[in-house]
Amino acid sequence: CMALMAFMAVSCAQSGMSPQDRLTVNDKKINEIIAQMTLEEKLGQLNCLVAPRGAVTGEQQSTGVAEKVRAGAVGSLFGRHDRDELMAWQKMAVEESRLGIPLLFGADIIHGYRTTFPVPLALAATWNPESMERVARISTVEASADGITWLYNPMVDICRDGRWGRCVEGAGEDPFLSSVYAAAMVRGTQGDLQDDDEILACVKHFALYGASEAGRDYRETDMSPARMFNEYFPPYKAAVDAGVATVMTSFNDVNGIPATGNRWLMTEVLRDFWGFEGFVVSDYNAVGEMVRHGIGDRKAVSEMALNAGVDSDMMTEGFVELAASVKEGKVSMKAVDQACRRVLEAKDKLGLLDAPYKFLRCEEERIYTQEHRAAARRIAAESFVLLKNDDVLPLSSKKKVALVGPLADAGAQYTGSWQGAAYDDCKSLLTAMTEAGLDVIFARGSNMLEDEELEQAACRNRKYVRDSRSESEMIREAVNAARRSDVVLAAVGEPAWMTGEASSRTSLDIPQPQKRLLEALVRTGKPVILLLFSGRPMTLEWENDNMAAILDVWYGGSEAADAIVDVVYGKVNPSGKLTMTFPRNVGQIPIYYNMKNGGRPAKTDSYKRFSSCYIDSPNSPLYPFGYGLSYTTYEYGDFSLSAETMPAD
Ligand code: NOJ
Repeated sequence: CMALMAFMAVSCAQSGMSPQDRLTVNDKKINEIIAQMTLEEKLGQLNCLVAPRGAVTGEQQSTGVAEKVRAGAVGSLFGRHDRDELMAWQKMAVEESRLGIPLLFGADIIHGYRTTFPVPLALAATWNPESMERVARISTVEASADGITWLYNPMVDICRDGRWGRCVEGAGEDPFLSSVYAAAMVRGTQGDLQDDDEILACVKHFALYGASEAGRDYRETDMSPARMFNEYFPPYKAAVDAGVATVMTSFNDVNGIPATGNRWLMTEVLRDFWGFEGFVVSDYNAVGEMVRHGIGDRKAVSEMALNAGVDSDMMTEGFVELAASVKEGKVSMKAVDQACRRVLEAKDKLGLLDAPYKFLRCEEERIYTQEHRAAARRIAAESFVLLKNDDVLPLSSKKKVALVGPLADAGAQYTGSWQGAAYDDCKSLLTAMTEAGLDVIFARGSNMLEDEELEQAACRNRKYVRDSRSESEMIREAVNAARRSDVVLAAVGEPAWMTGEASSRTSLDIPQPQKRLLEALVRTGKPVILLLFSGRPMTLEWENDNMAAILDVWYGGSEAADAIVDVVYGKVNPSGKLTMTFPRNVGQIPIYYNMKNGGRPAKTDSYKRFSSCYIDSPNSPLYPFGYGLSYTTYEYGDFSLSAETMPAD
C-alpha cells in the first residue's frame, strides 16, 4: 500500500495532479460514460465474441458481429492476430457505435506470439522465473505490436494427471513453483500497465480445472476446501496478488456447482477474501454449458453467472439478453453497472478510453527479432530434461548419425498446441543438423500414429504429409541408416495436438508405430538416443531400459531445432528438471511428490501386504518431480540443520 501510494505520488507529481485527482478523474470519466449508457449498451460491454476472419476487410461477408459492434453490443473480441483487421474492428466500434467505446482484443498467446517459446510445462522445467517473465514480456511486446490488448495467460491449473491433455499448458504439480511463475507471467505481461507494450493478463482457469476427474477434459472436480486452499488455489492467488487484471472461469464444476456460476468462488474467495478488483470473464461458452450441467435454461444460467460475479460472457451471448431479467428483478441494475464498470476500468487502465488506437501501430520490426529468437533458443535449451544418459551424450560432431523418427523433419510440430501467430514453417531438426554441417543420414522410419484421421487432427494439418509407404518398408530404411551410422538419434513422441485442450489419453506410451520403430532400432545394437517430443509425463519404462539416452525436448517452440543441436552436441549443458512426476504406468496416476504419508506407508518399493502399495507395480515413479540430469555429476553432502526444531512456516 505504501509503495503504491509512493508510486501514485510520483506519477501524479509528474502529471501535475494530486493522487486524489488522478483517481477521481478516472472514476469521473467512467461515471460519465455509464450515465450515458442504455441498459443494452451496458450489457453489450459484457459481451466477448470471436472476431470472424476477414469480416471487415471484405474477404468474408459479415457474420452479424459487425452489426453488433456498431450497435454497441460487444465489449471485446478475440482470436484474430491480424493488425489490419483489428484496426478495422476498432474503427467500427469507435466511429460507428453511438458511444464510441473501444474494444478489447483478446488472444491465446500462451507461450509466445510469432517468436514461439517452449510449451508452459517445458518452460516450468527451467525452474527459472526470470526466463518465464522474459517469455511473457517478449510475447506481450510482439502481440501488442499487432494490436492485441488482452492475453489469456497465465494458465496456472495444478495438475497431477498426465492423461489430461491440458497439463501441457500449466507449470505442473507444485503449488509454490506454479505461484512463483504465475506472478512472473503477470509481471511480464502487465508491467505497470503504463507503456504501450504492457497489456492485460488473464489468469485461468478458475478454479481447479486441472483436477478434472479421470484426466478427462471438462469433467467435474470434487475437493475438500483444505486441499483447494493448500494445493490448488495458491497460483491463482499469486496472480491476483501480482495484480492480474482479469480472471477466466473454468468449465468444470466445483463440488457440484459449475465454476462459472459459483458465487462462492467468483465473489467470496476471489474478491472478498483475496481482494481481486479486475473483471472476470467466462471461458468459451462456459455460461451456456451450464444448461447441460443441468442448472436451467439459457436465461437462468446467464442470471446465475452474472449474479455469481462473472462480468464478461465469452461466446454464449446470454448476458446481452439479460434486460428482461433486470426488469423482473432477477438481476439487479447494480450488478450490471458493476460488471460494466469493471470492463470499462480495464479499458481505462490500458489508456484505450483516451487513445483507442494506441496499440494499433505498425511495428512489424518488433516481432520475431533476432534478440527475441536468441532468447527463445536459449530458453528452449534451458527447458530440455535429460532423463537418462549412458555416457553417450553429448555427441561428438565427428560421429555419423542416423536421424530417424517422424518428428525429425516435422518442424511445424515444435511450436506445440498453442502456437500464437507462429509460422508453420519453423525449422526442423533435420534442417538444423544439415545447416550445422553434421554427418547425418535421415530416414523417417514411421508415421506419427496408426490412425490416419487421428494423425491429421493431432498434427493439425501443419504441413505434415503422411508417408504412404508400408510400415516394414519405412522401418527397413531406418534400420539400414542405423547400421551405416555410429549412433541413432530418434525424434519421436506425440504430435503437437496430441496434448492441449480436448486431448486426454488413456495410454501415455509413445504411439505404437513409433515404438515399433524404436524396437527395431534397438535390435541393430547401435546406441539409440531418444529425443522425446511430448507435452505431458509419458510412461517410458521400456525406453529407460533400452535407450542409451533420453532427452525430453517437449515442444520447444520456433527455435527448438537449433536448441536441440546446442544440447545434443554439448554447446549447452542440460539443466531442466521435471515439474510433473513421470509415472511408471498409468495405473499409478494420480502420482505427485507432495502426497501424504497415510497411516500405513510403504517403506520400500517391494510389495508388502497391508501397507499402502500395489501388488503389480512399485509405488515410486520412474522419474520423480525435480528429476533431471546434466553432463556433469554433482555430489551434495555435509548437510546440517540450522536448528533442532523449526516452526511450521
Ligand atoms: C477455451 C480455453 O479453455 C481457454 O483456455 C481459452 O482461453 C479460450 N477457449 C479462448 O480461446
